[in-house]
Amino acid sequence: MAVIAQKNPEIKVTVVDINEKRIAAWNDQNLDNIPIYEPGLSDVVKEARGRNLFFSTEVDAAIDDAEMIFISVNTPTKAYGIGKGMAADLKYIELCARQIARVSKTDKIVVEKSTLPVRTAEALKNILDNTGNGVNYQILSNPEFLAEGTAIDDLHNPDRILIGGNVDTEEGKEAMEALVDVYASWVPKEQILTTNVWSSELSKLTANAFLAQRVSSINAMSELCEHTGADVNEISKAIGMDSRIGSKFLNASVGFGGSCFQKDILNLVYIAKSFGLNEVADYWEQVIIMNDYQKRRFAANIVKTLFNTVSGKKIALLGWAFKKDTNDTRESAAIYVADYLLNEQAEIVVYDPKVTEEQIYADLDYLGTRTELENRQLVTVVKDPYLTCDKAHAIAILTEWGEFKDFDWANIYDKMLKPAFLFDGRNILNSKIKEKIGFQFRAIGV
Ligand code: UDX
Repeated sequence: MAVIAQKNPEIKVTVVDINEKRIAAWNDQNLDNIPIYEPGLSDVVKEARGRNLFFSTEVDAAIDDAEMIFISVNTPTKAYGIGKGMAADLKYIELCARQIARVSKTDKIVVEKSTLPVRTAEALKNILDNTGNGVNYQILSNPEFLAEGTAIDDLHNPDRILIGGNVDTEEGKEAMEALVDVYASWVPKEQILTTNVWSSELSKLTANAFLAQRVSSINAMSELCEHTGADVNEISKAIGMDSRIGSKFLNASVGFGGSCFQKDILNLVYIAKSFGLNEVADYWEQVIIMNDYQKRRFAANIVKTLFNTVSGKKIALLGWAFKKDTNDTRESAAIYVADYLLNEQAEIVVYDPKVTEEQIYADLDYLGTRTELENRQLVTVVKDPYLTCDKAHAIAILTEWGEFKDFDWANIYDKMLKPAFLFDGRNILNSKIKEKIGFQFRAIGV
């Protein structure tokens, strides 16, 4: 929304949420305090905020005022009832729809920005048409393809914008045109695709499933590499040069994380199952099974390498975010690796340049594996990477933060217990350099 406001100074954009603390943080005069760490975001907010971009808790007033409403609430995996652990929880979407229906007095275009199961627009339309004040609603699907850490650049230069709508009616086409115009302020028209609503909704799930599948595919090869003497980095390069395959998203890793991949694939699997398409469901579920295995395999390898026990041993985790350049930790591989090592009675020390101590404990508490007190006794969060590694038996790199490459690794090595083990879960360090320093070095797929 900040970028839409930045690029369309004549459009008033109001971002509303019932969470007062969050909205206050978005309005904070000190732009370092806005709730999301994302390179370039504070500059965009600085430019538009107070001009045509507003953050408010006055939800009803903003609905009443708006011609177009974007629903951008979260759609987590359902944690209860039918579809538990797989289906998308649409509770927040439904609450939004009911609030819009209750408040609206003029016609509205309602845009689904949240990633949703296919045919959710239909449910949305049903609620709006049957509980509203007789106003007309057009529902559009406009999935977001930005990736965290590069969000502003992805928004400024998107590969494509996708808008789904009712292509069979004049009103539907007009609504789509209105949204096309918003994006056309900065995106070339040929990159703005319009489709029917269902294609748009399913495209988003498909894109995330394909991307995640690439990571699981290369991670599957990484284990084979470790057994055969092949190097997965060389394989990625070799296959990536085939223009049909392409070079992006072929980095073997400790496993993918983030708020989207797992949730969307589970949702896809659930949808396929609900239509009785069991082979389709199993095919995509394997991407998740492989990813869970990769995280477990990484942690198990640490235990095995440290002479089959990490009990009472200090293990330094470098990185907690699910990828670099974000403070987002949702589904981060680090959480699962830490949990595994804690079950093996390791003493964990964490350093991440952007994630708070509070968040790290909250992530572990959420798993419910042990008490909150035990998590605080066994895990320490340190703001200095050198102190983090002091007297550690092993280091595990779990996020590919750029600064890790520039650490004084010889100094870190000197501070560690020997033999000093270094597990590079992101393949960011050159093994030859590390071995010269003296580390027992392990990377993924080499
Ligand atoms: C993803 C999609 O890329 C984006 O289009 C969609 O809108 C939301 O979901 P995001 O989750 O922000 O974006 O990050 P992404 O860059 O896709 O990375 C996801 C995970 O895969 C991260 O944990 C990342 O470290 C991992 N990954 C990615 C790999 O392990 N190897 C790779 O080669 C690429």
